Amino acid sequence: METVTTIAAVHARVRGWRREGRRVAFVPTMGNLHAGHVSLIDAARRHGERFVASIFVNPMQFGPNEDFAHYPRTPREDARMLAEAGCSLMFIPEVGEIYPHGSERVTRVEVPGLSRILEGEFRPGHLEGVSTVVAKLFHIVEPDVAIFGAKDFQQLAVIRRMVADLCMAVEIVAAPTVRDSDGLAMSSRNQYLTAAERALAPQIYAALQAAERRLKAGDADFAGIGRSGLTALEAAGFRPDYFSVRDAAELAAPRPETRELVVLAAARLGRARLIDNVQVTRP
Ligand code: PAJ
Repeated sequence: METVTTIAAVHARVRGWRREGRRVAFVPTMGNLHAGHVSLIDAARRHGERFVASIFVNPMQFGPNEDFAHYPRTPREDARMLAEAGCSLMFIPEVGEIYPHGSERVTRVEVPGLSRILEGEFRPGHLEGVSTVVAKLFHIVEPDVAIFGAKDFQQLAVIRRMVADLCMAVEIVAAPTVRDSDGLAMSSRNQYLTAAERALAPQIYAALQAAERRLKAGDADFAGIGRSGLTALEAAGFRPDYFSVRDAAELAAPRPETRELVVLAAARLGRARLIDNVQVTRP
């Protein structure tokens, strides 16, 4: 695996592959890789012939009181994991390479509607930061296909919409959420949990599974299911931001006849903010 830090080096390498007719698959990340990220590289191997991963902690998607400065950065370990997973090229730019004029005044890509609800309500500007950096990374890498985790379900929806709206020639593939054996979705931010909080953390998935069972049993009281989820999380010691049943396509309130649903939850536990979701097809 080759490691590069400049846009010019990525262009040169990827254009070489393209001339050889190779299909290029791309996995954007913020590094501090875990098995969830590695599963995206594995998925990339099923969809492409050359594999690019980016490692960039994107300042634009962090709020002023969020963890940008403290976000875990482990580039050497990341490089080892990517090489082992069969990645061809690791792109690890400095902030100045991506935002030479700063991230405040950069041309922005914004997906209205989808970016303002749920995560967008509790992390204003976050999803605009994500869509902007992913658009830039797509222009840098020019991949045929890019892989995103279903763990960040709303992020995936925003990227899909951006790609459709801006006619980007990138196929978007979703990969399933990788969990620890007790059900907790893997996340770099799980390290912020104390041992006692870590023991409680799987309850977020348990609450989502309880909602899933009700929906699969035909319960259509979506608001009531949402309230039960919030209550369960509060009782377990979380400070929930939201717990909400939505239609899986638009993330809008589902209608009684909507069959493809997603239940999304975000909650604070100690220093960590955890997000998770389950997709449900109703009977
Ligand atoms: P990051 O949190 O590093 O995640 C990178 C990719 O890994 C995302 O597509 C995310 O959904 C996926 N991922 C994270 N945990 C996962 C898990 N447990 N199972 C499966 N996939 C998982 O998401 C970002 O970075 C950034 O917002 C980014 C898209 C790179 C833009 O900066």
